[in-house]
Amino acid sequence: MANVARAVNIADLREMARRRLPRAIFDYVDGGAEDETTLRENRRAFEEVTFRPRQSLPVQNPDLRVRVLDHDLAMPVILAPVGYLRMMHPEGELAAARAAAAAGLLCVLSTVSGHPLEAFRAATTGPAWFQLYLLGGRDAAAAAIERARNAGFSALVVTIDVYVAGMRERDLHNGTPQLLGNNLLDKLPYMPQVLARPEWLIDFLRDGGIHRLPNVVVPGEGPMPLRDVSTELFRSSFTWDDMSWIREIWPGPIVFKGALSADDARRCLDHGAAAIVVSNHGGRQLDSSPATLRVLPEIAAAVNGRAEILLDGGVRRGVDVIKAICLGAKAVLIGRAYAYGLGAGGENGVARAVQIFRTDLVRNLRLLGCPSVRDLDASYVTPPRR
Ligand code: FNR
Repeated sequence: MANVARAVNIADLREMARRRLPRAIFDYVDGGAEDETTLRENRRAFEEVTFRPRQSLPVQNPDLRVRVLDHDLAMPVILAPVGYLRMMHPEGELAAARAAAAAGLLCVLSTVSGHPLEAFRAATTGPAWFQLYLLGGRDAAAAAIERARNAGFSALVVTIDVYVAGMRERDLHNGTPQLLGNNLLDKLPYMPQVLARPEWLIDFLRDGGIHRLPNVVVPGEGPMPLRDVSTELFRSSFTWDDMSWIREIWPGPIVFKGALSADDARRCLDHGAAAIVVSNHGGRQLDSSPATLRVLPEIAAAVNGRAEILLDGGVRRGVDVIKAICLGAKAVLIGRAYAYGLGAGGENGVARAVQIFRTDLVRNLRLLGCPSVRDLDASYVTPPRR
């Protein structure tokens, strides 16, 4: 296992993950859709924003705390739903839950997790949200919602940008469908990348290999096999019409994840959004979607305080968190940043990723001359071009 304490930044954790994981798994995390234009654009937008610091002000201990949907978070960073973390490390989602709780953060569990949602909930003393796909049809989704309610998840995150699964070409080049399938002969050409990572392979075999999806229990069929996810997503996609029955069985707050325009943000509000995540799914869905940071100001203006605004996509450093807050977000979600940590070193790796954000935030708020994340506003930055 890599010595994650040596990672100075998220790019170091990414490199450690690349060395530990088979290529198919690393690329599943790292890659985006088609030409990966949006994946790069997310980063480019952050790089375009420059600061307008207030020099040499005596800011000793900047306050990082924020309140999101009635949860007090130690800093404005939330762990995004990332599917099948158990492939990266046997502890997967449980490691993320534990590291988030230890740092006073909120963690969102994906529908397509490798561990049951009840085990995830039990692994965290902090708040947790459940992200919903309608995989396996309405009955399977209704059963998952019911279980999430009983387990004490406090909000439902409805992902609205996966009408069909995006085309992640790296997965096809790496033989991911073959590796997930049952035909040994089909797998053979893709095996060298797996055998080249013995440490990961031993962990994976000890963990019992590929697990079915414990939160997608299809009536009469049981838990869905992982290999069926992309075809099944296509068959049971979310549309706005689904909100009427979801509302009936989920009385709590709903977070919509995937708005990229003021119009869609207003549609989220019409459907009772308590929070909206400005997201392009980390560049994994519709390629050439805009960078989230570029559309954030437009969405924040349209929502105008009627729901909380969160943002994800390309957040790799504390300065990115600060920029997103300056331009209208209450907090950000990180996806790959902690998934790299998990792939590099399990729970310790996730904890290291979180710690990197914390120290980055403290240092950079002091350099900016800003005493609290809650004081950040547009006057601290020059925005990216639209
Ligand atoms: C995701 N994301 C995601 N989103 C979601 O709603 N349900 C899911 O199951 C997944 N699965 C998933 C797997 C992997 C490997 C990645 C990288 C991402 C999207 C995720 O929640 C978030 O929107 C992005 O990860 C944000 O971009 P960054 O931080 O990864 O650049």
